[in-house]
Amino acid sequence: MIHIDFSALKTIAPEHGLSPEEQNSLNNRLPEYLQKIHARKQGFYGDHVLSNEALISEIQVFADSVEETYEVIVLLGIGGSSLGTIALRDAFGHSIGGTYPELIVLDNIDPDLIAETLEGLELEKTLFLVISKSGGTPEIVSQYFFFSEVVQNAGLLEKDHFVFITGSNGILRKEADKKDIITFSIPPDVGGRFSVLTAVGLLPAALVGIDIQALIHGAQKMRDLFLSENVNKNLPFQLASIQHLLLQKGKTINVMYPYAHKLHRVADWFRQLLAESTGKKYSNAGKEIFTGITPISALGATDQHSQNQLYFEGPNDKLFLFLENQSFQNTVQIPTPSDKRLEYLKDTDFGKLLKLEMEGTKGALTEADRPHVTISLSEISEENLGALFLLLEGATAFLGEFLDINAFDQPGVELSKNITKNLLLQKNS
Ligand code: PA5
Repeated sequence: MIHIDFSALKTIAPEHGLSPEEQNSLNNRLPEYLQKIHARKQGFYGDHVLSNEALISEIQVFADSVEETYEVIVLLGIGGSSLGTIALRDAFGHSIGGTYPELIVLDNIDPDLIAETLEGLELEKTLFLVISKSGGTPEIVSQYFFFSEVVQNAGLLEKDHFVFITGSNGILRKEADKKDIITFSIPPDVGGRFSVLTAVGLLPAALVGIDIQALIHGAQKMRDLFLSENVNKNLPFQLASIQHLLLQKGKTINVMYPYAHKLHRVADWFRQLLAESTGKKYSNAGKEIFTGITPISALGATDQHSQNQLYFEGPNDKLFLFLENQSFQNTVQIPTPSDKRLEYLKDTDFGKLLKLEMEGTKGALTEADRPHVTISLSEISEENLGALFLLLEGATAFLGEFLDINAFDQPGVELSKNITKNLLLQKNS
């Protein structure tokens, strides 16, 4: 279950918060905004993604069939092709028992990282998962050709050590056909940063024992809310509304602040989603507007000691989105200290301490008139993570419509990819 608490917005100074009337001011336009989203023809909430039983079972059958074969999965992917998997791995990786392989995500091309990763690999027991929607991102194509050569030089068959997840065109698709490499497809209407619930996120998740059926089930339930014209049910709309209304009050920065270590990398996934979707030069009509919300990822309690000073006393230009885990799997008691000065630690455990520290941070933000909202997960389960992904994707889609931009393209990223390719070509000429 996911619950969102907006109550702090009405308790802070009106110029930084939202009165109930303000908070509801976009409500009567919900049907219109939903229509605009549908007109974008995006697949992230479509049946071919969220009700694709055939794909789920194909992925599960494949994952089960190789569970004993590989000890390590190396994922070659970047941006939308890796961040969802990192979020899932870190949410569940430590709590899944069994004999699942280790998952290494190589989402960079630092030569030291590549060389040192290779050094630690036993190639016979390694599966490389190459993920690229375009099939032509320079970082991933170069990594693929590097590891392809390594595998061949070791006398191994590429088709036994590579699986691709890619779009229907592009270099990887051609390579797969030529070399008979198993390939899963990315639907053309699902953009990279919205693709965690396609094979992009589901296959690596299944390979390490994450329950992908439950993940999808949670997302389906949130999809129903996202598509509802009842504002009280539509959590993505509510979340996007307050972000948009507060942007108009100068809150240009969004700090996602999980108070659960396992949700740390969800904030990194969201950072890409929000940045690439809202950071746009042009409006839908082609007018220069240079809009966007700057996302920051923080972690409680760790970042209380690195960022909170700025958050409490620096510029009041942020909306804080707390992520709360309402039930930790473990209760770890803190021994009662004998020193009287530590009396406050008596009869407590780390879960309670972390929760109270979050309340402390929220209380200080409220006192300083800083707007904050809390998204609570009843537990860190696959079902809740699936719902959380769809909540944030849906909210981002609404935000795009409020901002009058296309939230689903990324011309800036494409431009830098093209400049890099040209620089590489010039170097060779
Ligand atoms: O969200 C996006 O579209 C990007 O972040 C891409 O995911 C990223 O650039 C990787 O692209 P590709 O999957 O085509 O290799």
